[in-house]
Amino acid sequence: MKCAVIYYSKSGVTKKIAEKVKAAFDADVYSVEPEKPYGSYLSAVVRAGLEKLAGKPAALKTAAADFSSYDVVFIGFPVWYGTLPDFLQEYVKNAGIAGKRVIPFATAGANGKEGSLKTLKKLLPDSEITDYFFTSNREPADPDAWIKGIKL
Ligand SMILES: Cc1cc2nc3c(=O)[nH]c(=O)nc-3n(C[C@H](O)[C@H](O)[C@H](O)COP(=O)(O)O)c2cc1C
Repeated sequence: MKCAVIYYSKSGVTKKIAEKVKAAFDADVYSVEPEKPYGSYLSAVVRAGLEKLAGKPAALKTAAADFSSYDVVFIGFPVWYGTLPDFLQEYVKNAGIAGKRVIPFATAGANGKEGSLKTLKKLLPDSEITDYFFTSNREPADPDAWIKGIKL
């Protein structure tokens, strides 16, 4: 099974899990970055909020890679405003991964578990979404146990 990890992490929490996935499944890692970094928590909250209101996701640093050769695509993200960051949604939409098995992992302060899954289902209606992992500061979940339980 050839695996890819698509992820974004502003402050490193999601990145740690992406690295575990890479090590466990020998996955190729694709870090998705906005052209202009979001900076501090506060500036990210303000900017992402304005982008959401305007319906204009941040420009991406790189176009989506070619994922056609992968069997499984992990998608990792911090919850922003209850779901995936808008620019990452754009990337996922254009990544050509429809029909593939998708394994999402999300990190949050507290909430956004259901909202994120709903967004993913909308972005990838033809993909098989399995083994969704969600962890938050409020209710931490164990990424190692999650990884151990994944059957590829
Ligand atoms: C712009 C912004 C919006 C956020 N919105 C939410 C939210 O709606 N719900 C939540 O529980 N946490 C929210 N958070 C907290 C992050 O999801 C959380 O800190 C995450 O684990 C950070 O992951 P990272 O270090 O990989 O960037 C938000 C953080 C930022 C910067």
